[in-house]
Amino acid sequence: MTTLGLIGSGHIGSQLARAAVAHGYDVLVSNSRGPDSLSELILELGERATAGTTADAATADLVAVAIPLKDVQNIPADLLGGKIVIDTSNYYPRRDGTIAPLDAGEMTVSEFVQAHFADARLVKAFNHIQAPAITDDAQSAGTAERRALIVAGDDDDAKKIVSGFIDAIGFDVLDIGPLSASWRIEAGTPAFGPRRDREELEIDIAQATRSARH
Ligand SMILES: NC(=O)c1ccc[n+]([C@@H]2O[C@H](COP(=O)([O-])OP(=O)(O)OC[C@H]3O[C@@H](n4cnc5c(N)ncnc54)[C@H](OP(=O)(O)O)[C@@H]3O)[C@@H](O)[C@H]2O)c1
Repeated sequence: MTTLGLIGSGHIGSQLARAAVAHGYDVLVSNSRGPDSLSELILELGERATAGTTADAATADLVAVAIPLKDVQNIPADLLGGKIVIDTSNYYPRRDGTIAPLDAGEMTVSEFVQAHFADARLVKAFNHIQAPAITDDAQSAGTAERRALIVAGDDDDAKKIVSGFIDAIGFDVLDIGPLSASWRIEAGTPAFGPRRDREELEIDIAQATRSARH
């Protein structure tokens, strides 16, 4: 049985936890305020869920980093060494402050996150779907025009595992390549936000232009 650890249990983290529990995964949720602040979410999620520290969440088979980009540096990098990590991050300067290499287009958001968690097997996913849609738009495999979500990453085996999770909770998957290509799904690109099936997503990804982000 795969366990999913959530570092951050706000909009996106709590939705990933709901989807995971609904599809038979055990989840370990965490936030910055500590396990006691998550009692309501635990009550809702039921017996498959446990609240812990971020270090507890990091022990799961699969770990999602679902915190604002500005807070990533506050998570000890060695916590995620060797772990398969889902990176949900987006960069919003109004929220995150200015991050020069991102403004300059010198690295993608997920390369920035990977630079911090240097030894993690990072896979970008779920950054382009609004949190409520993670449960609202989920459909079983084989459904016509099923919504598709991207993965991007430099570790093919990690991408396969994250793709399996995405499929299990209700979505087709499109692999858009390494982390360096993930600017194609960042905020401001055509595929960022709207519901797309696999074929439509592929078209949007191909049509993305890097300047859209700046
Ligand atoms: N909201 C969406 O629809 C959506 C969709 C796709 C991607 N994203 C991206 O996903 C990321 C998370 O967004 P969100 O909307 O879920 O944010 P959010 O609702 O504000 O939740 C943030 C979570 O991160 C936790 N956190 C912050 N600093 C932490 C730390 N140092 N250690 C542990 N936990 C910490 C917070 O805990 P406390 O509350 O205890 O401080 C909270 O649980 C962002 O990069 C966002 O752009 C969001």
